[in-house]
Amino acid sequence: MPLPFRLFLLVLCWLPMAALAEDSLSAEREQELETLLYQDCGSCHGMTLRGGLGPALPKSRMNAYSLDGLAALILHGVPGTAMPGWQGLLTEKEARWLADHLQNDNPLDE
Ligand code: HEC
Repeated sequence: MPLPFRLFLLVLCWLPMAALAEDSLSAEREQELETLLYQDCGSCHGMTLRGGLGPALPKSRMNAYSLDGLAALILHGVPGTAMPGWQGLLTEKEARWLADHLQNDNPLDE
């Protein structure tokens, strides 16, 4: 196989991996998002997500949503309620990370 073609194949294999790496958040940002979840979201939903001004956010309830639906709810809020949209503070990727956290790594495993 000629060398330029080999290099071409190498780049082809490398591209999807670069795209995947691009898709993950830094460990620091994940830590910040977790703090945001329990402090900022927690100011309404409770520090342990058991509810307060806002409803409890147990794992079972969070899995009634699709990942995309939950991320959209976090970004846009619930109009007409106290649930604010977080668009200005969170990127779509970060909202998806929070949604994934609520669905799969939720301290309120009910
Ligand atoms: C100012 C108070 C407040 C803050 C801060 C807040 N929420 Fe809410 N949230 C609410 C209220 C009130 C509702 C219920 C809306 C309704 O009546 O449908 C709600 C609803 C929700 C729901 C839907 C619950 C269900 O049972 O369907 C999710 C998910 C949610 N919030 C996630 C979050 C996340 C994640 C954050 C932080 C990024 C956050 N909320 C911050 C008040 C808040």
